[in-house]
Order: sequence, then C-alpha cells, then structure tokens
Amino acid sequence: MFLRLLTAALLLLLVVPAQAEDGYDLWLRYRPMEAEGLAKYRPLARVVVAAKATSPTLDAAKAELTRGLSGLLNQAVGAGDLADGAVVIGTPESSAFVARLKLPLNGLGREGYLVRSVSLSGHAVTVIAANSDIGVLYGSFAFLRLIQTRQDIGHLDITSAPRMKFRLLNHWDNLDGTIERGYSGHSVFDWHKMPDYVDPRLTVMARADASVGINGISLNNVSADPWALSPMYIEKMAALADLLRPYGIRIYVAAKFSAPVELGKLKTADPADPEVQAWWKKEVDSIYRRIPDFGGFVVKANSEGQPGPRDYNRSQAEGANVIADALAPHGGTMFWRAFVYSEKDPTDRAKQAYNEFKPLDGKFRDNAFVQVKNGAIDFQPREPAHPLFGAMPKTNLALEVQLTKEYLGQTTHLVYLPELFKEVLDWDTEARGHGSTVAKVVDGSLEGHDTSAMVGVANIGDDRNWTGAQFSQADWYGFGRLAWNPALTSEQIAREWLGMTFTNNPAFAKAVVPMMMASREAVVDYMTPLGLHHLMATGHHYGPGPWVGDLPRPEQNPVYFHRADANGIGFDRTPSGSDATSQYAPPIAKLFSGPDIPDQYLLWFQHVGWDHKMRSGRSLWDELVVQYDKGIASVGEMRKTWTAMKPYVDAERWSQEAAFLAVQEKEARWWRDASIAYWEIFSHRPMPAGHAPPPHDVEYYKAIYFPYAPGRPGYTAGPFRNTPKDPTE
Ligand code: GCU
Repeated sequence: MFLRLLTAALLLLLVVPAQAEDGYDLWLRYRPMEAEGLAKYRPLARVVVAAKATSPTLDAAKAELTRGLSGLLNQAVGAGDLADGAVVIGTPESSAFVARLKLPLNGLGREGYLVRSVSLSGHAVTVIAANSDIGVLYGSFAFLRLIQTRQDIGHLDITSAPRMKFRLLNHWDNLDGTIERGYSGHSVFDWHKMPDYVDPRLTVMARADASVGINGISLNNVSADPWALSPMYIEKMAALADLLRPYGIRIYVAAKFSAPVELGKLKTADPADPEVQAWWKKEVDSIYRRIPDFGGFVVKANSEGQPGPRDYNRSQAEGANVIADALAPHGGTMFWRAFVYSEKDPTDRAKQAYNEFKPLDGKFRDNAFVQVKNGAIDFQPREPAHPLFGAMPKTNLALEVQLTKEYLGQTTHLVYLPELFKEVLDWDTEARGHGSTVAKVVDGSLEGHDTSAMVGVANIGDDRNWTGAQFSQADWYGFGRLAWNPALTSEQIAREWLGMTFTNNPAFAKAVVPMMMASREAVVDYMTPLGLHHLMATGHHYGPGPWVGDLPRPEQNPVYFHRADANGIGFDRTPSGSDATSQYAPPIAKLFSGPDIPDQYLLWFQHVGWDHKMRSGRSLWDELVVQYDKGIASVGEMRKTWTAMKPYVDAERWSQEAAFLAVQEKEARWWRDASIAYWEIFSHRPMPAGHAPPPHDVEYYKAIYFPYAPGRPGYTAGPFRNTPKDPTE
C-alpha cells in the first residue's frame, strides 16, 4: 500500500506543471523540457551557425533558434562556429556551407524549406536551408516545432512548401481600437501612437504568424473606414510594415469602395469614370512609395450597406478590376469579397452570391481573387460548402473562414475550429468529378491556376493571452497550418498545438485531443442541430433567438431560416422550394434534394415533417431533442476531461478553461431549453421519454437580453435597442 502511494506521489511529481502561465507566449513557449528530453536533444542542437552577412529575416531566424533552443534545452545555445550538433541555416547565397552541400532546393519555391541531418566537414549537423531568407525562417520554426513536440531529429530529411500562395489573416479592427466581432479585448494596433511608437508586442504576434506561415494581414474592418487610405494612416501603416517585414508578413488594407468620393472629393466612385480610375492609381502609387511591398486590398462591396459598383450599375468584376489595375504594376493583389445579399432581392439569401458572381467567371483580373466564405450564409456552426467553389473555374477563388467565434459562443465556448476548416477543405464539389475538393479549388490545382489563397478572420486582440481563451489560440495556429498544408489532419494539428502549448505528456494528448475533436460537433448539436442555421440573437449573435422575426431585413431574421410551422421545420431549398440545391454539381444537387441527404444538412435543404422518420428510427422531433441533449452531454464530457487534466496544466490556464467550460455547459443548456421551448409551439409533440422539458416557457427565454454584449461596437440590444448604426443585424 505504502509503495503504491509512494509511486502515485512520484508520478504526480513527474507531471506537476512548471510556473504559472498566462498564455502570452502562445505556442512559442520554449519552456525547459524534461530531463530525458534534455539528454536526447542537447547534443543535437548545440550552436546555431549562420552567415555573418545577414538580413533582418535571417536575424529573426537566428534569434528564434537561439531563444527556442536555449529555452527548451535549458542551456545557452548561441550563434557560433561549425561543430558537432550545429544547426546550420541559410540560403546558398548567404551561407557557404549551404552552397557547398548542393541541396535539392529546386522544387521549394520562394517560401519552402529543407531540414536535413548531414555531415559537414566531418561534423554531424542539421541544416535548415531554403531559396530565400523567409524559407529559412519558416524552416527554423519547423525545426523548433519538431523539438517542441519531441520528434526525433537525429536523421531528418524534410522538405516542405506551402500549398497556398497567400495565407492571410483579415483583422476586422476599427481605427478607434474596437473590433468588429472581436472577443479578446481591443485592437492590437494602437493607431493613435503610430507611426512614432509601434508596440513591440506586435513582434510576438508577427513571430506567431510566421511560425505557422501566415504571410499577410489586412489591418482593418472590411466594413471599412475611408480614413484607412488617408496619407496619415498610410504613414502609420508604413511603420507597422517595417516591423512585420522581417517575418515575411505583408500588409493589406480593407478599402472602402467610395473612398474616391470621401477622400478624393470626386463626385462619383463609378469604376468606369476616368477620374475614379486615375484616383485609384494615384492612391495606390502613393501607398507603394511608402510601403514598397504593400500586399493589396480587401473590399466588401454592395454588402450590408457598404457602397460598391452596383450603385453605379456596374458589375462586381468592373468594381474589382479598377482597383486591381491600379495594383497590378506594383505586384499587388485585390481580394474582392463575395459576401453579398440584398434585402431588395426576394431570392433565397443562400443563392444570391452565386447568382451574382457565377456569371462573372473569367471577368476578374489575374491579380484579383474572389474571396468566398466557407458557406453561403455566414460562418455558422455548420454550413454546406459555398456553391461558388467549383462553379467559377476561370476565376481565382480564395477561401475565407472565421477564426473569431461570432456565431459559435464567442470567448467562453471551446470549439476547435480546424475541424470545421477541414470539413470545408475536404468537401467534394464534384465540379470535375470525384475528388474535386474545395482544397483543390482554392489551392489552384483543380483548374490549373498558378495562384491560391486562404483567408481567416482573425481572433486576435490585446487580451493577455491574445485570443480571449487559451483554446482559441489553436484556431489561429490551425488556420496557419492548414493554409500551408490543407492535407494535414485536424487531429495532428491539435496534437502538435497541445504539445507546444501545454505538455507532451502522452496521457494529456490522449484525453485532450479527442476532447478538442468532439467540441465542434458539440456546438452544432446544442445550437443548430440537423442543418438548422442562423438562429442566434439579434445584433451580437450571442445566445439563442430563433423567435426573432421583426428585423427590417427579412433575410436576417432567424424565422426566415428555420421556417418552423405546424407541419415541420427547415428551409426547402430543393427544386420544389428555392432550388438552391441546383447551384451545386448534379450529384450533390440530387443528394441534397432527395431522401438520402445526410442528417447534418437535412434542415438546411429540406422542410421536414415533425414525424418524419429519421435514419435513427426516431421521429424528427424526437431526434432534434436527442441532438440537443447530445450536445450538452458532450460538453459535460469535456468538463470531466478537463477536470482530470488538472495535474498536467498550470493553475492559471487550467482554472480559466475550467470556468469557461462551466459557462459553456450552462449556455449549451440555455440554447437547448430556449430552442425546444420555442419549437414546441409549432410541433405540439411531447418530449421523448427520458428527456426533461425546458424548465421555462419561451417568454422567459425571449426576455433574456445583453445590451452590451461584445463584438458589435456602438450597438445596443434589448428593450432599449436603438436603431443600429449599421443596418446589418
Ligand atoms: C457577418 C458579421 C458582420 C460582418 C460580415 C462580413 O455578417 O456579422 O459583422 O461585417 O459578416 O463578413 O462582412
């Protein structure tokens, strides 16, 4: 007995976490590893060998390696001369050693890298080589990741090059420091103090971005402020660009289409007007004078009240091209968003973007992308892939996903988003037969495009841990990893991230990887099971609001989306309804219109009777209740898992997540109870056996409101609601 107790105590000692942590260091923590690891890795990474003649990017690589190796190996690892266990970095131009090795760098492009164990002048070393300095930096992060996740590094032979050319984050930050749909504090961009002072904290962000290969960020809300293009702000951006440049990050700006009027004092922003064309050219020329590697623009036009070419009876392509033409001589890129729908268009909202953009296939310039959200509605817990993927073969399409959890419970709900990203990347559009995945559409390979892009709406703010919740860091990390290589599995990414962020103890990964993997399905189940969507409360989208039907724009009302009535529930998008199914390739259109539709998309595409018999044998009504309860149970399991993980995690990070999971469980229940209380009005069906009725009637849930819920600057919700500043709900 005593022996057993002693062993247990010793085991606990082994897993006792180090000092308190607050998440500031993200996955670049570089804490000293366990004794066993020290013995294994120390001889293999003793000194960093880099050329003397160097560049800011090579300096960043050298600094990262010395910082990372010194931290992980708990001994000073500096720059020095060739020796056994050296880590030799460089390009054939910058390093005579790399040149001498004649490494096969040809297929790696500008950003790829090679990490190999070699013998150099009789020394066993690791070489990190690339065609350009940024490749060396990416390779350095990859090498550190191997050690951080305790992989073998004795016999390395790794090459890696990104599948997507543009791997971008869109920050939706306002110039006043607030963030549209931001749940992690204020903006990290302190515009007021720039250009004279640029917060050094941004270097940490840049390192994190670079560590996963993110190579561009747009700085401001897509519902854009024209000031962003003013000389004053360009000056500030130039200072920021200087800080980001060594990390391979170019800056982009969300441009307001009407800027020629607001800033240029022209009478029109009509893209066919020569004065407007000249204005964009002049504006862009002046930006490049200050920021020679400026990335380009992202534009939200004729969407949710934003101005655009349609105001002048011009097409979206004509609008995009006038700006693309101004950017082209400088190598800049235009990201033109396809998130359009109009209250004046009575067509199913899910169909509108396709209707507007598909006929424009082939009309966009080569340096323009049409940036398409993963689904046709708006970043829901689950959406079928957007029908535009596969439908515009002659156009560069960028995939846009949302990292900030606007519709997924916001800060306190743990939802591991790479699972969602993978679902859309792996979605088979059938555009060119089986295997025409969204990943192949956006990486350009399906139609032979030589450019490609994946974009994430950032979840970064000035909270100490950057993303509001520890686990939301995984969404940032995973986005970058998938944009680099969409073939990675979300499970593999979770494992890596956990090892780097918490611990490599196998018992921890064994419990927490499945917890993360299950979290996405859980939120679908407790919020929007079986294909339901857009049922969130008005404005802030926090909590349930399936009863909302009084918003001035019909296609923003939850009742528009669920269509519950005495017969059943769901949006009929089959040929007998809105026929949105016909926007997909024939095999998919057929599947979604028929009886074999997968349960998870059922109510997205079909209006189904309450007594309809489901695959499970249950009626639809019973199945809905079962799904809600499954979601809650799943969060209950997540809480149990996390409770058991206490010995592996430092107190500060563990406690915050434990508290957040408790909120998540409470809110999962709220979602379930409020939704069922409301559906009951239509279904008139009893609760299935063993499932408790909601404790309150629907009026109780309707009365809950959050006047200052975050993420909607200047917006007030609830009984004292003002007319929103922006008509978008
Ligand atoms: C959603 C979101 C808005 C955002 C918009 C967009 O509708 O609620 O805040 O502006 O998407 O992507 O443009």
